[in-house]
Amino acid sequence: MSDETLSNLLKEDRRFEPPAELAADANLTEEAYARAEADREGFWAEQADRLSWDTRWERVLDWDNPPFAKWFVGGKLNAAYNCVDRHVEAGNGDKVAFHFVGEPVDDKQTITYAELKDLVSQAANTLTDLGVQTGDRVAIYMPMIPEAVVAMLACARIGAPHTVVFGGFSSDALASRLEDCQAKVVVTSDGGYRRGAPSPLKPAVDEAVVKAADLGHTVEKVLVVRRTGQDLGADGWDSDIDVWWHESVEQASTEHACEFFDAEHPLYVMYTSGTTGKPKGILHTTGGYLTGAAYTHWAVFDLKPETDVYWCTADIGWVTGHSYIVYGPLANGTTQVLYEGTPDSPERGRWWDIIEEYGVTLFYTAPTAIRSFMKQGREIPDARDLSSLRLLGSVGEPINPEAYVWYRHVIGGDRTPVVDTWWQTETGSIMISPLPGVTHGKPGSAMTPIPGVAADVVTEEGESVGPGNGGYLVLTEPWPAMLRTIWGDDERFKDTYWSKYRDQGWYFAGDGAKLDTDGDLWVLGRVDDVMNVSGHRLSTTEIESALVSHPKVAEAAVVGAKDEDTGQAVCAFVILRDEAGDGGDDIVEELRAHVRTQIGPIAKPRQIMVVPELPKTRSGKIMRRLLRDVAENREVGDVTTLADSSVMDLISKGVSSGAGGE
Ligand code: WT7
Repeated sequence: MSDETLSNLLKEDRRFEPPAELAADANLTEEAYARAEADREGFWAEQADRLSWDTRWERVLDWDNPPFAKWFVGGKLNAAYNCVDRHVEAGNGDKVAFHFVGEPVDDKQTITYAELKDLVSQAANTLTDLGVQTGDRVAIYMPMIPEAVVAMLACARIGAPHTVVFGGFSSDALASRLEDCQAKVVVTSDGGYRRGAPSPLKPAVDEAVVKAADLGHTVEKVLVVRRTGQDLGADGWDSDIDVWWHESVEQASTEHACEFFDAEHPLYVMYTSGTTGKPKGILHTTGGYLTGAAYTHWAVFDLKPETDVYWCTADIGWVTGHSYIVYGPLANGTTQVLYEGTPDSPERGRWWDIIEEYGVTLFYTAPTAIRSFMKQGREIPDARDLSSLRLLGSVGEPINPEAYVWYRHVIGGDRTPVVDTWWQTETGSIMISPLPGVTHGKPGSAMTPIPGVAADVVTEEGESVGPGNGGYLVLTEPWPAMLRTIWGDDERFKDTYWSKYRDQGWYFAGDGAKLDTDGDLWVLGRVDDVMNVSGHRLSTTEIESALVSHPKVAEAAVVGAKDEDTGQAVCAFVILRDEAGDGGDDIVEELRAHVRTQIGPIAKPRQIMVVPELPKTRSGKIMRRLLRDVAENREVGDVTTLADSSVMDLISKGVSSGAGGE
C-alpha cells in the first residue's frame, strides 16, 4: 500500500434507497448534476435568482485575482430584506418564522414573519441610534433566544458585519475577538438558562470590555436583553455604556427603510480555531453567501416551505447556526423550531418531546449528539411519537456507520433518508452531501459534491487518487459562499487554504478522504490526526467507526502514539453504552479482536482505554491532541478550548491507575 494515500480498509455494504414519495416530488433531481457541470456559473446565477436583488449583477464570478473571489459583481441586495421583509410583502406575514422553546418547560413563544420584521426594524433603528454605521462591527454574545437572531438580522439590515461569539466562551476569548475585529457594540443578555438554572453572560462581557481596553480597543456600547432577570450587582451596570434592550429596541419605531449593499459587502466574521495560533476571523460577504445558504438548505433538506417544520439544533455561535438557522432557512421562508437549552434538561427526552409537540419534519444535528443518545439507549426516543420526521441531517464530524444506522432506524423509524453533510466554517454552505431524492444512502459516506460544487481527492502532488484510494480533499472550483479572506490577514488566508495546491488554484480543506470503488466520498477527518503504523497511513475515523460498530460501544476516539516497533501504534479511548455496564472482564480483548475482524490486523489497537468521557471542543469535536498526550504519557497540553476541563483529569487518573488499560 502506498504511503501517499490513506489506507482504505473499512467495508460497508448497507444501502438505503430514497423513499419513493420523496423522490417523486424532490426539489432537485438527477439532471441538476449535469446541468451544473455544463455551465457552473449559469447554474449559480439560477440559484442567486432565489433571492430578491435591488440591482442585478453584471458578472457572475470574478476570479481574475485568485484566491480573492467576487461573486455577482455589481449586484446589490439586503440580506435582512431577503430573510424577512420579502416574505411579508408576498403575503406570508402571518406565517410562523420561529417556534421558540426556552429551556424552562412552558417558556414558549411564537414569532411570525411580520413580527420578526418589526423586531428587526426596531433593533436596526436602535443600533443606528447607538452610533453603529455601515461597515462597523457588532459582536453578539447571547444564549439561543429570538433576540440573538433579531440582532444578527438587524446588523445585516444596516450593513454592520456581526461577529457572533458562542455564549460558552470565556471573557478572554470574547475580548480577543472584540479586539481583532474592533467591535464597536456588543449585544448580550443578563444570562440564559442552562441545565435548569440561570447562567450569567453579562459579567463576562464586562470583563471582556476591560480586557479589550487593555489590548487598546474601546467598546462603545453594550446592548443587554433581560432574559433571566438575575441581579447584576452594583458594579454590574455602567450607564455610560450599558443600554437595556427593553428600554431601547422595544421602544423604537418599527419602520425602517433598508439600504441595499454591494454583493461583496461583508456580512459577518466567524472565528474558528485552527490547530495552532490565534483564531481566524473567517469573512463571509452578502450575495454569494446568501445564495449558497439558501440553495443548499432548499436542495439538501428538500425543503417544502409550505408544510415543513425544520429544526437545526446547532448554536448560532457556530457557522451551522448562521447558515442553517438564520440565513438559509429564513431566506427560504421556513418555519423553524429554535431551542435554548441542552438535550437533557429537564430530562433526557427533551428533544424528542419538542419534535413531537411541533411536528418537526426536517431535523439537523451532530454525530456527537447522536452518539450520546445511543449511549443512553433507545427507550427514551421510543417513548415519543417521532412519525412527523421525514428527513434527518448530520454535520460536524464523520458520522460512524453504526451511528448513522441508529439515527435512521431509531429516530427516523427507517423511513427517513439521512443526509451526511460535509462543509466548514470556511465553505459557508454545504459542499458534499447526498441529495435526498436522488442519492441512495450509504452509512458513513457524504457521497458526492452537490450540483455546482467541484471536489476531488488527490495525492500530495495533486494527482486524482481515483476510486478505491484515499488522499487529500480539495475543492477545485470557486463557489459563491466561499470565505473571502481571514479578517485583517490576507497572507494567512493564502497560506492556510491556497498554498498546498497553489499551482492548481485549489482550496485545501485540511481533511483527508477516500473514494470508494463506486467513486463515493468518505471524509476521514483532519489530516493532522492521521496515524502512520508500520508505513500504513491509517485514518482515525475508520478505526473509531469499527469500535462504534461493537454493540457495547457508544463513542470512540483513536490516536497514534509513538511506538518503537511500528513508528506509531493505535491507541483507542472508548465510552461504553449504558446497557453494557462495565463491559465485562474481557472488554479490551473483545474490542481489539472486533477491530481486527472489522478492518484487519494492521488496525488492531495496541491499547484500549475505557473512559467515562472524551475531551471535546465546545462544538462537540473530539480533541485528539490531548488524547495523544495521555497515550504518550506526556503532561496534558493546553485545555482552554475544552468544553469541560475536568474531563482530562478523569481520563488521566483512570489511565495512571491502570483502569481499562491493557
Ligand atoms: C470540519 C469543519 C460544517 C459546519 C460545522 C463544523 C469536519 C464537518 C463533516 C462531515 C466529516 C465533517 C471536517 C471539517 N466535518 N462536517 N459531514 N463528515 N467531517 O464546521 O467547525 O468549521 O469544522 O468539521 O473535519 O473540516 P467547522
